Amino acid sequence: MKALVLAGGAGSRLRPITHTSAKQLVPVANKPVLFYGLEAIRDAGVREVGIVVGDTAAEIEQAVGDGSAFGLQVTYLPQDAPRGLAHAVLIAREYLGDDDFVMYLGDNFVVGGIDGLVDRFRAERPQAQIMLTRVSDPSAFGVAELDSEGRVVGLEEKPEHPKSDLALVGVYLFSSAVHEAVARLKPSWRGELEITDAIQWLLDHGHRVESTVISGYWKDTGNVTDMLEVNRLVLESVEPSVRGEVDAASELIGRVVVEAGATVTGSRIVGPVIVGAGSRVRDSYLGPFTSIDRDCAVVDSEIEYSIVLRGASIVGVGRIECSLIGREAEVTPAPRVPKAHRLVLGDHSKVQIGT
Ligand code: G1P
Repeated sequence: MKALVLAGGAGSRLRPITHTSAKQLVPVANKPVLFYGLEAIRDAGVREVGIVVGDTAAEIEQAVGDGSAFGLQVTYLPQDAPRGLAHAVLIAREYLGDDDFVMYLGDNFVVGGIDGLVDRFRAERPQAQIMLTRVSDPSAFGVAELDSEGRVVGLEEKPEHPKSDLALVGVYLFSSAVHEAVARLKPSWRGELEITDAIQWLLDHGHRVESTVISGYWKDTGNVTDMLEVNRLVLESVEPSVRGEVDAASELIGRVVVEAGATVTGSRIVGPVIVGAGSRVRDSYLGPFTSIDRDCAVVDSEIEYSIVLRGASIVGVGRIECSLIGREAEVTPAPRVPKAHRLVLGDHSKVQIGT
């Protein structure tokens, strides 16, 4: 079995942190979302990975290299424009040969890996196996309709009137039968060759399509709430370790990771929290479920349940919660505006003025 990882795409639907870089490199607990996918593929026993890349190819190749750091053999497959997931299968035809493969969308995050899914595919050998998850906004996804026995009967890409709340998760398993389906597709209304249509073609032509419903799924749709939640889930299982410097005036409680080259002085950190390499935390409080990426500064501030990306600084701003702070962002106090109360008070008035 091979893997086909999709790491192209313009990221135009994504905001705010993917305006400037590949969406697959958005960090969750300080690690690019794509890396979790590559590790899940390796853990499922797959070694040969073709990565489809587009405009952000250089950035992806710099991050992943030849794959040896992950125990993988990576081949890059350039796609000239984001022409759809099924188009990616089309251009990977030669690389994939007639092997079974797992297709993994590099901006998807599946809690708990894909071992179970891959094992089931190997045991049952359907032509396609899909993962589904319940979402609150099915129109933003491919949506599956199941019959009363849980069999997939139909699939629609981003339907205006979804027939269920079961979205297609971006991890699919295929036998080589998918190549015929893909070769017959016409571009959809959004001008792309849709993998959803290819799976529908397999269904229409009597092929077996199995599905599994999972929980613990996240996709970068620009939804900050979801991103903070997946960051929480991942941080919950980090192993505490302190490789940076923590002075005697600081206190670390619970699962706290301080990476090499980070410094913590005069601060209190209540885990789970991760402080990335080269970051500086001074006279501050870091509360549960906070990821501080590399080379950040948190000074004289409090922050909890938040994600701070590489190189950002937060200085003297009191408390921040449920926030996503982008790369190199600067958060500082607003200049103080002189305050004055103008009063015309009657005799014997009692006035309480907040300070
Ligand atoms: C793609 C698929 C869609 C699937 C989604 C999962 O959507 O077309 O069926 O639900 O990935 O991430 P896209 O990312 O192209 O909007």
